Amino acid sequence: MSLNEQIEKITDSMDLTAPAPEDEPYRQYFFIRKAREQFRALSEETGRPLTFDVVTFGCQMNARDSEKLRGILEEIGFVKSDSEDADFVIYNTCTVRENANTKVYGRLGGLHALKNRNPHMMIGLCGCMMQEPEVVETIREKFDFVNLIFGTFNIYKLAELISRVLDHPDEMIVDIREKADRTVEALPVDRTYAFKSGVNIMYGCNNFCSYCIVPYVRGRERSREPVDIIREIEKLADDGVKEIMLLGQNVNSYGKTLDQPVSFAELLSEIAGIDGLKRIRFMTSHPKDLSDDLIRVMADHADVICPHLHLPLQSGSTEILKNMNRHYTKESYLALVDRIRAAMPDISLTTDIIVGYPGETEEDFQETLDVVRKVRYDSAFTFIYSKRSGTPAAVMDDQVPEDVVKDRFGRLLTEVQEIGRERTARFEGQTMDVLVEHVNEQDTSLVTGRLANNIVVHFPGSEDLIGEIVPVKLDKCHGFYYIGSRA
Ligand code: 5AD
Ligand code: SF4
Repeated sequence: MSLNEQIEKITDSMDLTAPAPEDEPYRQYFFIRKAREQFRALSEETGRPLTFDVVTFGCQMNARDSEKLRGILEEIGFVKSDSEDADFVIYNTCTVRENANTKVYGRLGGLHALKNRNPHMMIGLCGCMMQEPEVVETIREKFDFVNLIFGTFNIYKLAELISRVLDHPDEMIVDIREKADRTVEALPVDRTYAFKSGVNIMYGCNNFCSYCIVPYVRGRERSREPVDIIREIEKLADDGVKEIMLLGQNVNSYGKTLDQPVSFAELLSEIAGIDGLKRIRFMTSHPKDLSDDLIRVMADHADVICPHLHLPLQSGSTEILKNMNRHYTKESYLALVDRIRAAMPDISLTTDIIVGYPGETEEDFQETLDVVRKVRYDSAFTFIYSKRSGTPAAVMDDQVPEDVVKDRFGRLLTEVQEIGRERTARFEGQTMDVLVEHVNEQDTSLVTGRLANNIVVHFPGSEDLIGEIVPVKLDKCHGFYYIGSRA
């Protein structure tokens, strides 16, 4: 009997009037069933199905967490809506930069107006921003219409928390944990795409880059057991999933803290052998500990591991990198890029760069530009440094004036875009495989998909191609994407 069949058998015979079981995931399935009964009554009263909308801010990790929240809500019996005019709206928040927080506060006003019109509406907030005590304080003071606040360590508990909201409809339920008490396997997931999926391999981060709030809001590094990861991916492949993205703040430190340590290269090589998978991606790789073993595994399994590495640079100045606590130098980063390109000459490299870190001089900035010109990234996410309270960089004296930062940001953007355009165009005229993701929103005679190296391609086609891998001739490069035609 599979784990899920086993769970189903146990939960089917549960007595919902008895106290909830202590063991996970049974405890959550108990609350899912209980909430299902409670909402069925409410749905009968209103004469319509109850709807939900989970809105994701931030990174791939949050996108995956939102799929888990949706899975639980659907299991309870809610129907997915694509509008915030729903009976249960959850914001899964991000706090990596200040503007992510501002956006959430701005949108909460709109939710209040919707809630005033729908007496059954419940509002939940979760994710990284909620792990900051000042944020929870602000929400209590200014947004007291919110029903539920939870954090990054207890999303698996959504059903139990909903049950508490129903028992205490006039209170704001706040359940924030300081650290992860456990990772719970085998809960429902609602995948956004039928043909591709993220897979968490680890949670949290131990690196404490001096500007970054992630280690404080997502806690210490925890790796999942290889058998759980492999089992999940095999099930996805059986379900017809062709592409998976392995997710972790730094996948290169995967497995170091397991009882039986396993390296990321070992895990990846095992995953590459799973039948049915066509594309494997992973994110993010810290340049300080990307091993030669990993480069070898990528090159050896080039048929299935995508020729793309996201390798966040942050700064090209060795001095700034030291201050950022990044544990590599400009030279060691460039040497790593050389090793990667020697093994995989055509690989796409992308990066993250921060401009205006405290103490950054024009000379430091020139070092960043120098690395950008030497590496020639396929694309780069560029960020203006954002002060995050509680991080070491927030209290550093020499914050860079705004006008100087803006000027540097503009110059960097011009450079990365110009190089990105040139790099992207290198495949013009070739025929390459595209995994089709959706019908093009602007022009419905086109479909949109991605090459293995992550470049976007639009070409004439219809809905039935979604989820298929098709050879496409890359007729014309338009900056960061191609217009193609079926080969
Ligand atoms: N300010 C600006 N950018 C940041 N990042 C992380 N913290 C900050 C910050 N305080 C960027 C880094 C990281 C990406 C996910 O977000 O470049 O790689
Ligand atoms: Fe933040 Fe650094 Fe961890 Fe990335 S590696 S999440 S930038 S602390």
